[in-house]
Amino acid sequence: MERREHWATRIGLILAMAGNAVGLGNFLRFPVQAAENGGGAFMIPYLLAFLAVGIPLMWVEWAMGRFGGAHGHGTTPSIFYLIKPSRLSRVLGVFGLWIPLVVIIYYVYIESWTLGFALKFLVGLAPEPPPGASSPEEVLRPFKEFLFNYVGLNAEGDFLKPSLFAYLMFLVTMAINAAILLRGVSKGIERFARVAMPTLFLLAVFLVVRVFLLETPNGSAVEGLNFLWHPDFSKLTDPGVWIAAVGQIFFTLSLGFGAIVTYASYVRRDEDITLSGLTAATLNEKAEVILGGSIAIPAAVAFFGLTAAVEIAKGGAFNLGFISLPAVFSQTAGGPFLGFLWFFLLFFAGLTSSIALMQPLVAFFEDELKLTHRQAVFFTAGIVFFSAHLVIFLRGALDEMDFWAGTVGVVFFGLVELIYFVWLFGPRRAWEEINRGGIIKVPKVYYWVMRFVTPAFLLLLLAVWLFEKAPAVLTQTHWTVWVTRFYMVGLFLLLTMLVFLAERRRV
Ligand code: TRP
Repeated sequence: MERREHWATRIGLILAMAGNAVGLGNFLRFPVQAAENGGGAFMIPYLLAFLAVGIPLMWVEWAMGRFGGAHGHGTTPSIFYLIKPSRLSRVLGVFGLWIPLVVIIYYVYIESWTLGFALKFLVGLAPEPPPGASSPEEVLRPFKEFLFNYVGLNAEGDFLKPSLFAYLMFLVTMAINAAILLRGVSKGIERFARVAMPTLFLLAVFLVVRVFLLETPNGSAVEGLNFLWHPDFSKLTDPGVWIAAVGQIFFTLSLGFGAIVTYASYVRRDEDITLSGLTAATLNEKAEVILGGSIAIPAAVAFFGLTAAVEIAKGGAFNLGFISLPAVFSQTAGGPFLGFLWFFLLFFAGLTSSIALMQPLVAFFEDELKLTHRQAVFFTAGIVFFSAHLVIFLRGALDEMDFWAGTVGVVFFGLVELIYFVWLFGPRRAWEEINRGGIIKVPKVYYWVMRFVTPAFLLLLLAVWLFEKAPAVLTQTHWTVWVTRFYMVGLFLLLTMLVFLAERRRV
């Protein structure tokens, strides 16, 4: 067996893992979820979900990845097979390739918007509100048109007509991702994270400070913080808030995507994962609730007042991040430059995540199909590039993919991971595997949490989702939705074929 690459330093590993987790979700998705679920009402289920679902599953993924890596495998079709040799293990493992693949197809496109917006704002091509505009609508309108023109949302019909610039930025973003991945785990991903994460942190802190100083007759940033940080225990009985909280924990910690498993497969067999994992997850939470929670919502509240800001946030992450926030900045000194910093922050946050979403497929091609690293990266980038056209040009493809892979798929797969690692591998072996080489010992309660609480939680969540949300999605029958579904099924079959092809070549 050839030698597997390893992370060069512990700090590099932690920053790469934190980069994996800190993404667009921290700065865009979290504020929207919090606003939609009543601000302070959201924070309690969110924290409990972090402790009861996020942390245990995070340790399981790290341990499973390190275990696989020690046997030369960085992706779940083979890791599940190591745990329980059967065809079903391989098929279930395919989800650990399929989910990151489907998600990266739209994630990388959104990431490319942040680059495009950053560049436009930097060179003075940012939209400008009409002079003397007073109502929020007047201020927002040019920013809305800007976004709509960029991605081609204003075209009629089933197709989108993005600007040529948007397409070029997509190409550039793909190229940057591939260039980092080509250099490999320690020279590419790790080195980039060591530069990008501190930069990202400084940018975010700067923006937070700037936002705190905003005050208008409509409101102030502090009111926004007050809204977010005023806990409301009565919401603990609302199942909808719980679903949203667990969903956000999955998304922000990158759980159930197979991406942490693959990164962890490059950790040495006896190297600590308990403290490193906890540190990376904690860094993500700080970036999310402190930094992510202190930019978009407080800025919108300072400018539009609490009620209007909450309405804006309910318009979704794109609305808040790509329309409202730059519009707010445009009303202050140096607005376009602040806009540039904001989009550049998002771009870095997105980039450290998108490379993590591509690495599972790269690892699969290398580990299982024995391609060279270069071939593996080109193949992966090729599939992603080709598939992304669906999202770029077909209306509704993005939402459909996000629902099946990014929302329901991850909870399902998180449950499968727990079943394999904790139940089938055996709770004692799993516990030993997690704690081996650990700088800290995992508190004993987690032995029980992992076995019973987390799976029960996920099962419940999955059931509620399937009964409450899936019918509304499933009954959509527009042809674009069907094309997207067929494409996703096609990708699954392709990956399954490759998995069994790899098995054949091995014997
Ligand atoms: N956690 C990332 C965010 O907050 C998004 C994400 C979800 C992700 N799953 C992932 C990133 C898997 C990398 C790998 O935006």
